Amino acid sequence: MTNKTALVTGASDGIGLEFCNILAAKGYDLILVARRKAVLNKLAKALSQQYHNINCTVISTDLSKPQGAQKLFATTVKKDLHVDLLINNAGLLQNGFFTDIDLATQENMISVNILALTSLTHLFANAMATRTGGHILNVASLAAWAPIPNQNVYAATKAYVLSFSQALHNELKVAGNGVSVTALCPGYTDTKMMDNPDQGPKLSVPSGMLQSAQEVAEQGIAACLAGKPTVVTGFANRASAILSHLFPKMILANIAGSYYRNNLN
Ligand SMILES: NC(=O)c1ccc[n+]([C@@H]2O[C@H](COP(=O)([O-])OP(=O)(O)OC[C@H]3O[C@@H](n4cnc5c(N)ncnc54)[C@H](OP(=O)(O)O)[C@@H]3O)[C@@H](O)[C@H]2O)c1
Repeated sequence: MTNKTALVTGASDGIGLEFCNILAAKGYDLILVARRKAVLNKLAKALSQQYHNINCTVISTDLSKPQGAQKLFATTVKKDLHVDLLINNAGLLQNGFFTDIDLATQENMISVNILALTSLTHLFANAMATRTGGHILNVASLAAWAPIPNQNVYAATKAYVLSFSQALHNELKVAGNGVSVTALCPGYTDTKMMDNPDQGPKLSVPSGMLQSAQEVAEQGIAACLAGKPTVVTGFANRASAILSHLFPKMILANIAGSYYRNNLN
């Protein structure tokens, strides 16, 4: 029997790396995607040595570039790779005052978080529908559930991912073409993203509020393979998401704004 194949964007670090570890242990062949080729090659080698029954393919690409998603899809077609599980995980974050943040940086974030994710979903959902179906896991965030001053573009990109994925989940389910879409909403997760000088001022978060990347990835994959529309990871994050429905958006913006102004440094 041939293995199923999963493509993971942002495979070189953080939650993406944990998706790869979990899927390799489940016997998936992997297509590892990110910019840092050497890191991906090292991961592919380590996984292939640990799990002899899987194949790992490295595709190094910058998803912020125009046509980045289309070129990635074309590469998989050229290599005759058929994707059963797509994980749109690559994402960028910027903290800080909107008008102080370089415009190109904001556009880059929108390109990766929204444009590449949407294009990859379109291309692979079509390919999956013409075969035996498949699963798509789009990584949103708890930040999708409220407007967040000083992280406003990031939170808005994640609100897009959540809304897009939930609507598409319904659309594809009704169409009955065997493709399911799941939105994963992690809260604060212990990865480089929480402490990356390239992403503006650092947000101080008490360590008790951080989930591990492994825990987040496990919950995401379980929900995705079960065909669920949405998963918010962890009890406290689920409670926050539910509570967010009880307040007008501008009250949430006031609360989040006050937290971020006091904890960004
Ligand atoms: N950490 C959190 O607290 C948290 C919370 C909620 C949601 N999330 C979401 O979870 C996802 C993963 O985040 P993380 O915390 O694991 O982040 P991370 O540790 O910073 O990893 C980000 C990954 O994305 C890749 N990437 C970045 N820009 C790229 C580009 N232009 N083209 C291709 N790949 C690119 C990076 O690889 P290269 O540098 O090698 O390209 C890396 O593998 C993101 O969508 C993030 O928004 C994170």
